[in-house]
Parts: sequence; structure tokens; C-alpha cells
Amino acid sequence: MKFGFIGAGVVAQTIARHVLPYGHEVLLSNSRGPDTLGDIVSKLGRGASAGTPQQAADQDVVVLSVAWARVPEALASVPDWSGRILIDATNRINPDNPSDLGDLTGPTSSEIVADQAAGARVVKAFNTIPMQWIDDASREKPRTVLFISGDDGRAKKALGAVLEEVGFAAVDLGTLAIGGRQQQVGGPLAGLNLTLKDRFVL
Ligand SMILES: NC(=O)c1ccc[n+]([C@@H]2O[C@H](COP(=O)([O-])OP(=O)(O)OC[C@H]3O[C@@H](n4cnc5c(N)ncnc54)[C@H](OP(=O)(O)O)[C@@H]3O)[C@@H](O)[C@H]2O)c1
Repeated sequence: MKFGFIGAGVVAQTIARHVLPYGHEVLLSNSRGPDTLGDIVSKLGRGASAGTPQQAADQDVVVLSVAWARVPEALASVPDWSGRILIDATNRINPDNPSDLGDLTGPTSSEIVADQAAGARVVKAFNTIPMQWIDDASREKPRTVLFISGDDGRAKKALGAVLEEVGFAAVDLGTLAIGGRQQQVGGPLAGLNLTLKDRFVL
């Protein structure tokens, strides 16, 4: 699978390190242009490249991995989201006041993302855990549970299959409205570290 990333920081690089050893490809982008990503891409190695946000969105799936405050401009840099699988890894955090989660009773954060990316097939994933918990990208790593939510079953299935292949346990929580609320910041599954001891016994 070809992964595009809008945002080339900790989340993008961590996911990239997990999928690259299995033959998947990654294209990272940021707001400053591909030329600024040379060191990161060469460190990631074979299968990694840099591009623009539009090029990231043109991959099989595109991961939104920018700070919440940058979400509107990042999504606006791709004029047409129709049909694209958009993995929302963001957390709705106010950097000026991280402990103030705001009003959590309205639309979920991924529904807000979906509203700003009309026509995209949005799947919420990767947001529930700090990336240092999955820093080990080796084939021997512990099998960590990653929650996914979304309204498009085929998009969730496609992502879930890759997650399982690269050594995670994907748990589908349902829709962006219901599952998204469970896994977003402030929900009961945010910050939950579940690791299966034996990869082959379920
Ligand atoms: N770090 C974690 O452990 C973790 C875990 C789960 C979820 N999250 C969430 O995932 C998101 C990303 O976190 P992170 O830790 O990866 O952040 P980060 O390390 O600060 O990286 C953010 C990236 O976004 C880029 N960016 C900013 N504006 C952009 C734009 N308009 N278009 C394209 N790229 C843009 C930044 O590069 P430039 O500024 O150079 O453009 C940078 O490469 C956040 O919402 C965070 O809450 C983080």
C-alpha cells in the first residue's frame, strides 16, 4: 500500500517505520515543501519519499498528522477529497491550554475533519496512544491494540488489514460518531495501552 502523510513529524515517521519493512511505501509532506524533508526521508530509507500535500493525498491512503490548529489549512491544501481514504491521526488539543478539552458533546473531532474534507472516506486511527509506546518497529515488537472508527466499512477494512499485517491488533469501534467519541481525546479509550502478549493466541 502507498501511504501519503500530510504532516511529517513524530506520528508520520513512526507509522512509516512500521510499514516500510513490509514493503509498503510512504510519501511525506509538510507545509514547507519536499526539499525540507531530505534528511527525514533518507533516514527512513528505501520506500520513503517526500512530496507535496496534494501528492500525499494521491496515494492509496493519506494520513492526516498535523497539530489540531493546522488541520483546516492542511485539509484546504487538497482541493478535492472525493473518494480518498483519509486516516485522521489528530487529537483535538489546544496547545495553549492542553488540559482544556473544550465542549466534547458536539460533533466528534473526526466528524469535524470529515466536514472539512468533503467526500473523503475518513477513518480515525493512531490517535489514542503516544507514539513512544509504539517506538519499537521491529518484527518482534509487542502486538499493540490500535482502535479505528469510521463510516466507510471498506476503508476501515483496508487499513485494518495493513495494521494486522505489520503487527498491530486493529479493533473496529464503529462509526465516527460513536467509535470516534470513544477514542478521541477525553474519551474512555484515549491513552489506553493494550498489548497482547502472544501474537498468535486471541
Ligand atoms: N506525537 C504523538 O505521540 C501523537 C500520538 C497520537 C496522535 N498525535 C496527534 O497527531 C498529530 C501530529 O502529531 P505529531 O506529534 O506528529 O506532530 P509534529 O511532530 O509536530 O508534526 C507535525 C507536522 O505537521 C506539519 N505541518 C504543519 N502544518 C502543515 C500543513 N498545513 N500542511 C502539511 N504539513 C503541516 C509540520 O511540519 P511544518 O511545520 O514544517 O509544515 C510537521 O511535520 C497531532 O494532532 C497530535 O495531537 C500525536
